[in-house]
Amino acid sequence: RQNERESLLIVLNFAKTFFQEALQKSDEGRGIGLSYFRERGFTNPTIDAFELGYSFDQWDALMQEGLRKGYNRDLLEKAGLILVKEGADGRSPKTFDRFRGRVMFPIHNVSGRVIAFGARILKIDKSQPKYLNSPETTVYHKSQVLYGIYQAKQTVRQEDVCYLTEGYTDVISLHQAGIKNVVASSGTSLTTEQIRLIARFTPNITILYDGDAAGIKAALRGLDMVLEEGLNLKLLLLPNGEDPDSYVHKVGAEEFKAYIKANSKDFIDFKAGQWLTEAGNDPNKRAEGISDVCASITKIPDPLKRQTLSQRVAQVFHVSEQSVISEINRLLRKQQ
Ligand code: CTP
Ligand code: MN
Ligand code: MN
Ligand code: MN
Ligand code: MN
Repeated sequence: RQNERESLLIVLNFAKTFFQEALQKSDEGRGIGLSYFRERGFTNPTIDAFELGYSFDQWDALMQEGLRKGYNRDLLEKAGLILVKEGADGRSPKTFDRFRGRVMFPIHNVSGRVIAFGARILKIDKSQPKYLNSPETTVYHKSQVLYGIYQAKQTVRQEDVCYLTEGYTDVISLHQAGIKNVVASSGTSLTTEQIRLIARFTPNITILYDGDAAGIKAALRGLDMVLEEGLNLKLLLLPNGEDPDSYVHKVGAEEFKAYIKANSKDFIDFKAGQWLTEAGNDPNKRAEGISDVCASITKIPDPLKRQTLSQRVAQVFHVSEQSVISEINRLLRKQQ
């Protein structure tokens, strides 16, 4: 078992280097991949820090080089690097590279070893997914991984806060702008394991999701999970249609930091804000909003923390603290 893990890590490291060399040393990689990263504003130190690469637009360039180096087909397949298609009518199976003609984002574990890849198409094409990702393997369990944790962990400790974004390029562009305490859940909904991974380095999480309906929905879902783990949470929405990558390129590092500072909200203000905009003077909607905020408070394990927060909810919604406390208690009873 241990041997299989190590073999997989070795072949994944080979693939990473192959993709890096393709990006930097081949005409195809430089002409297509490197110019793509340049257009996105990524500098050489950034490309190196994240070990970015390029996969040739050929059927089996990686497999051929892997076989030549002595890695067998079975290992390449178990690493998620090649696909095997059964041949029809007794014909021999066809094998080819999973990642072709894409820019490559290696995914590192906490200790910096490559365990998987994300791969972006160069031109958006509705017949293909924008990102292709490695499948689950012996060394890659998507639900336990945060993109960028290796590059972020030292700064997360120093700054004592971790910014949680949606995507690969959000992490990379913020890192380049000098905001290095950033990770991404990579489009999957946040898991408890991912939150515990952050908790190894800091108890403070700031959710920084895309400023669109999907981002708000994901933030609201992640919110309760972070609270359940007993961590401190702030949230921040970017202006409509922006993500951290696009916004930091638009306004620059200093203004981005100022934006975070001015707009980070704790979960009560964040949720209340959403509800009060929607509810206006509708008393039923306001009651629904209070109950919804109280539901999040019931997720917090520490009873003392819950108590102090009921005061805040009362203030924000202009109701008595007693009514908030009874609602929290009602919800807690219901959960038992
Ligand atoms: N994602 C994915 N597969 C897709 C689309 C998205 O795995 N088909 C994941 C990727 O990790 C991506 C994240 O979800 O980084 C966020 O998606 P999105 O906001 O659509 O992409 P961006 O990260 O903004 O990518 P880009 O700026 O390159 O368009
Ligand atoms: Mn495992
Ligand atoms: Mn999005
Ligand atoms: Mn995005
Ligand atoms: Mn983006």
